Amino acid sequence: MKIMVIMVHPDLENSRANRTLMQYAKLNAKGDIDVRDLYNEYPDWNIDIEHEQQLILQYDRVVFQFPFYWYSCPPLLKKWMDDVLISGWAFGPGGNSLRSKEFMLATTIGGPEHSYRAGGADRFTISELLRPIQATFYKCKANYLPAFVTYNVDRMSDVAFQAEGARYAEQIFVPAVVETQY
Ligand SMILES: Cc1cc2nc3c(=O)[nH]c(=O)nc-3n(C[C@H](O)[C@H](O)[C@H](O)COP(=O)(O)O)c2cc1C
Repeated sequence: MKIMVIMVHPDLENSRANRTLMQYAKLNAKGDIDVRDLYNEYPDWNIDIEHEQQLILQYDRVVFQFPFYWYSCPPLLKKWMDDVLISGWAFGPGGNSLRSKEFMLATTIGGPEHSYRAGGADRFTISELLRPIQATFYKCKANYLPAFVTYNVDRMSDVAFQAEGARYAEQIFVPAVVETQY
């Protein structure tokens, strides 16, 4: 299975969680993963749509890895979706390029897991908060996989990061449980 991880972090140099997780994920990976750094590739935010579409077609699974910002993704990922997932290619008449392609989100969260539930400090679950991105990939007839989520990252020890990185490496390769049928 060919896997591409698109890292979307506006300041990867000063990242601890995303950089460390990726380091350990690569160490533990049981196959090849190609990792990109979207903010580094597009410092002017001028996304090369054709290049992105061609790249996606070369992979079976695409993982978007990002820090959770204001209950959502960093803005360049939103722009990537707005620019790349266009009618006639990703959805709408003739837009079948992503049919059955697998997409996974991997996000690092500042708050603790117990806050992300009904009645908790953040009130909603991560599955609920990631719903717009899930809906986007459903609209594109793609297969949306369970997200990899790691909580409490701003207070996490190096040892815990090592364990989370190993868990991430496992999840990246786990076969899809549910095949989306269209
Ligand atoms: C602009 C901004 C918005 C954030 N919003 C949230 C949030 O909505 N919920 C949360 O739990 N943490 C939030 N955080 C904390 C980040 O998720 C956390 O610092 C990040 O995942 C750490 O990753 P890094 O070390 O790779 O930068 C936010 C941080 C920033 C800078």
